[in-house]
Amino acid sequence: MAIISSRPQPTNSGEPPKKARVSGAKPAGKNSSHRDLLQGAATIEEQQGEESILIKGNQGDQQQSQNPQEEKIRPQRLEDYIGQKDLKGVLQIAIAAAQGRNDPLDHLLLYGPPGLGKTTMAVILATEMGTNCQITSAPALERPRDIVGLLMKITAGDILFIDEIHRLSRMTEELLYPAMEDFRLDITIGKGQSAKIRSLPLPPFTLVGATTRVGALSSPLRDRFGLIQRLKFYDLAELQTIVQRTARILPVEVTPEGAEEIARRSRGTPRIANRLLKRVRDYAQVHQASETSTKITQEVAVEALELLEVDPLGLDWTDRSLLQIMIDNFKGGPVGLDSLAAATGEDVKTIEEVYEPYLLQIGYLQRTPRGRIVTDAARKHLSN
Ligand SMILES: Nc1ncnc2c1ncn2[C@@H]1O[C@H](COP(=O)(O)OP(=O)(O)OP(=O)(O)O)[C@@H](O)[C@H]1O
Ligand SMILES: [Mg+2]
Repeated sequence: MAIISSRPQPTNSGEPPKKARVSGAKPAGKNSSHRDLLQGAATIEEQQGEESILIKGNQGDQQQSQNPQEEKIRPQRLEDYIGQKDLKGVLQIAIAAAQGRNDPLDHLLLYGPPGLGKTTMAVILATEMGTNCQITSAPALERPRDIVGLLMKITAGDILFIDEIHRLSRMTEELLYPAMEDFRLDITIGKGQSAKIRSLPLPPFTLVGATTRVGALSSPLRDRFGLIQRLKFYDLAELQTIVQRTARILPVEVTPEGAEEIARRSRGTPRIANRLLKRVRDYAQVHQASETSTKITQEVAVEALELLEVDPLGLDWTDRSLLQIMIDNFKGGPVGLDSLAAATGEDVKTIEEVYEPYLLQIGYLQRTPRGRIVTDAARKHLSN
């Protein structure tokens, strides 16, 4: 995978690494001449004329969780990022090489099911590189001027994180091609016959894209990423470590067995592990009200998670009803996604991106050209 780049040097060389700033509020950059140009007589073609193309307080910048507790729990450095050994190995080399050359990181595409740590990794990369991280998501970049506004705010070495990148509009995607490849922004100024294409240089930056559906990305966009990495489900020991780390931050006391029980029921996903931990903490707090401190033991975790209908494999009510409907209504399959969505009342995308990956991973579902099939292991689990 190409991690060598011949890009122009960023200007922030030699500065000590600083914590990534995740916001859109940036100091006036050296792009101000571009801004003047764009704010003057120029209008972008699809724009209605009056508004400036600069997006103030861009909605995309508010994408990251505003919940301070969530942000405390989110790892900030690579060393706190548990698991994903292969991904970390590749990125450690890429970071060291880029820093050695004083280049920005190569563009990176992260893909995998929700809650496995894609956004977290983007923020960590910015911290490790000592740069800013602008966070946005494809649905917030509907109009071309949205991405233009963001690119104009970029300073050398910044990370631009685009979540759900498979949902970019075609025009936005086409603006990104030269921006990614040549750090150049091609915009159309004026309308009709007098329209002109202006090329504006951009400072070198890193685009980090995240998607749950890498297959939905157009190949020209996919090909412009120098690094393409898949995030995998976490194993039991990794999730146990994540639960213990989060418990220290909350803080709540958890025994190793209590942490393991929560981990086992977390569907290989850190976000779920953290969520279950909080619910088990609530349960323990209420049930141990008379005691001096709240403590999550294995027994407490089992009681709480059973109350939440999270079974020993982490399947919840929806997973079980999905499998049960396939058995009852479709003789276990094969059944197409659309029929399954209609029968369960769930959205096709939710089944495909949220429920199905883990059921496939644990061998409860199989995907065939004719549709999904429930396996014997799933039947056995449901009959218990
Ligand atoms: N490797 C990790 N170590 C510790 N905690 C993690 C790790 N990965 C993720 N988390 C925790 O899980 C939460 C969810 O992670 P994150 O938001 O990065 O997932 P995501 O892959 O971006 O999900 P989505 O696809 O839904 O956007 C984070 O807030 C963080 O606390
Ligand atoms: Mg995310």
